[in-house]
Amino acid sequence: MAIERTLSIIKPDAVAKNVIGQIYARFEGAGLKVVAARMMQLSQAEAEAFYAVHKARPFFGDLVKFMISGPVMVQVLEGEGAIAKNRELMGATDPKKADKGTIRADFADSIDANAVHGSDAAETAAVEVAFFFPGMQICSR
Ligand code: PPS
Repeated sequence: MAIERTLSIIKPDAVAKNVIGQIYARFEGAGLKVVAARMMQLSQAEAEAFYAVHKARPFFGDLVKFMISGPVMVQVLEGEGAIAKNRELMGATDPKKADKGTIRADFADSIDANAVHGSDAAETAAVEVAFFFPGMQICSR
């Protein structure tokens, strides 16, 4: 399987719960390496731009409001099949439907506050990595 990079966000609810380390342990346990990371407070304009693809969805306003409600931890994960592997670790969007042992099943409270984001395909991963780490040289490990 090819070595890939994917964009991961630990959302404000999980940052507030102080479980960044526990989530990083899930990544590392699955063989994913953190190759770039930054903690940041998203502005409304940044959140709207990042989620622009969902602009027409009824929850768009709530999603943006939630994503700017506190700091987020943003990272690039690298590893074999990193995009699918990270989505598997995350579990379903709605934590009530997420498989046991996934990040969302263990750390998320609701579909609105669902702990993590992960790129869903190679094309979106490239766009999302560039969104948060523009023009940066990211070290492979
Ligand atoms: S996807 O990737 O399009 O299949 O995902 P989807 O389930 O449609 O959700 C897209 C993002 O919107 C978030 N979401 C919501 N936020 C607030 N309220 C409701 N009801 C809601 N439903 C979905 C969901 O967590 C996805 O955010 P990210 O950050 O991509 O995980």
